[in-house]
Amino acid sequence: MVNYDGRMGAAYVAGRAMAQDEVRRWTGAFAEHVPDRRPLDVLDLGSGVGRLTPGLAEEFQGRVYGVEPSDRMRAAAEQAPHPNVTYLKGAAEDIPLPEASVDVVLMFLSFHHFPDPLQGLREVRRVLRPGGVALLRTQFSDLMPDLFWYAYFPSAREVDAAMYRSLAATKALAGAAGLTPGADVVRIAAEEWRTLRQRYERLSHRALSTFEHLPPDEVEQGFARFAADAERDPDRVMPVYDATMLVLTRPSGLLTRPR
Ligand SMILES: C[S@@+](CC[C@H](N)C(=O)[O-])C[C@H]1O[C@@H](n2cnc3c(N)ncnc32)[C@H](O)[C@@H]1O
Repeated sequence: MVNYDGRMGAAYVAGRAMAQDEVRRWTGAFAEHVPDRRPLDVLDLGSGVGRLTPGLAEEFQGRVYGVEPSDRMRAAAEQAPHPNVTYLKGAAEDIPLPEASVDVVLMFLSFHHFPDPLQGLREVRRVLRPGGVALLRTQFSDLMPDLFWYAYFPSAREVDAAMYRSLAATKALAGAAGLTPGADVVRIAAEEWRTLRQRYERLSHRALSTFEHLPPDEVEQGFARFAADAERDPDRVMPVYDATMLVLTRPSGLLTRPR
C-alpha cells in the first residue's frame, strides 16, 4: 500500500502537477461521457492534491466534493480553494455523502488504491443519482501502455501491471456493485507533450507508485541512466500515451438493486 501521508505526499505536487490547459483537456474529455445538462454535481473520489478538482467545478458548474483519506494530500488541495469545491476526509468504502447526491463520480488513478474495491463501487452507486455516471480513469493489466521509460527500470512494466485489474475483472466488479460498464474502454489523449529532460525532471520526483514497489538499487541505477540520456538529448520530444477510462452508469430503472 502506498503511503500518501509520507514521502509521496510531498513529492506529488512537484512531480505530477498539471498545467491549466491539460486540466481543461481532461475535463473536456470527461464532458463527452456525462449527461448534457448543467449544473452537474461531482464527487472527485481520491482527489489527492486537487489536481483536477477545481477544474471539475469550472467544467460542470455544480458543487464538487473532493473526498480524500490522506490528510497531507487534502491539506495540499486546500491551498488552492475554489468557491464550489469542498474537500472532505473520507474513503471510497464509506463515502461521507448522502445517497443520490451527485451526478458524476470521478476516480482518477485512485481505484487501484482502494483496499475494498467492491465496497468502494457499491458506495459510488449509492451516492450517484439514477442515470449518473462514474468515470473510472485507471489502467488495466491487459491494456498496459508501453511507456518509454520502462527501458530504464527492467521490472517496472511488470510491477505496474500487477497494480491493476484486467478489464474483464474490473467490469465484473462494477456489475456486482450494480453499475453498468460501457462496452468499450474510452481512450483519452490529454497529456502534455514533454521533452526528455522534462520527463526526467518530473519522474525524478518519484511521485509514481511504481517506484515504491521497485528494488532501491534498480531505481537508483535506472535514474542514473535516465539522467545521462536527458543530459545528452534534452530537447527530444517524447511520446504521449492514450489514457484508458471505463464509464460506469447507475441505471435509472427501478429493478436495479445490486445483488
Ligand atoms: C495516484 S493518487 C491520485 C490523486 C488524484 N486523483 C490525482 O489524479 O491527482 C491516488 C489517491 O487515492 C487516494 N486513496 C487511497 N486509498 C483510497 C480510498 N480507499 N478511497 C479513496 N481514495 C483513496 C490516495 O490517498 C491518493 O490521494
